[in-house]
Amino acid sequence: MERIDKILASQNFGSRKQVHKLLKGKSVLINGIVCIDSSQKADPEKDIIEINGEKLVFKKHLYIMMNKPAGVLSASKDKKEKTVIDLLPEMLKRQGLFVAGRLDKDTEGLMIITDDGDFAHRIMSPNKKVYKKYFAKLDKPVTEETKKKFEQGIVFKDGTECLPAKIEICEDGKSAYVSICEGKFHQVKKMFLCCGLKVEYLKRISIGKLELDNLLDPGQSRELEDCEKQQMFFV
Ligand code: URA
Repeated sequence: MERIDKILASQNFGSRKQVHKLLKGKSVLINGIVCIDSSQKADPEKDIIEINGEKLVFKKHLYIMMNKPAGVLSASKDKKEKTVIDLLPEMLKRQGLFVAGRLDKDTEGLMIITDDGDFAHRIMSPNKKVYKKYFAKLDKPVTEETKKKFEQGIVFKDGTECLPAKIEICEDGKSAYVSICEGKFHQVKKMFLCCGLKVEYLKRISIGKLELDNLLDPGQSRELEDCEKQQMFFV
């Protein structure tokens, strides 16, 4: 059981102040009875809550897929620069959202935004072996030796060891698909750098079996379907 004002604020019906206004205006019904008392408690998963005649579809958590554009930070907030949270449409904004697996400012592609910490942990923890696949364009051809090093596990100059990565070199020789199940800072760029190659373009294209929806233009986002949430944990 939760206070009605807290429930409504969590479901994007505005600030507590705006929610109190809704309640005072007799716009909220709980099980068919008008509720004006913001401290009244309800069970959002069992009670029928209506706002201006519309039934509340309660969502404990939000799970969002975004096609992150280059030039935007994958942080929740920044004083100076635009973040992926700023790009969300109003209907997908709510308190507590964060990025599950950051991308660099200049990296594009599949980004998951949620307010479910356990779910984010399952995606990001290297122990869970959820592979993130990237498409990378390099400044020089990728050699078989680079492939071997990636598959054995790159060790950075400071001694940091990366887990073995999967790599497919594209026909043009200067681009490749790389899959890693960890998320060290600048990992893909640093792995290539260890082999003398500079990443000129980077895009995340899938997480587990979940691929970036190619109907999403850069900057666009949408909620994930339940089955898509599961796809991330398929190998
Ligand atoms: N590896 C990188 O180097 N950058 C990213 O944004 C993601 C993975």
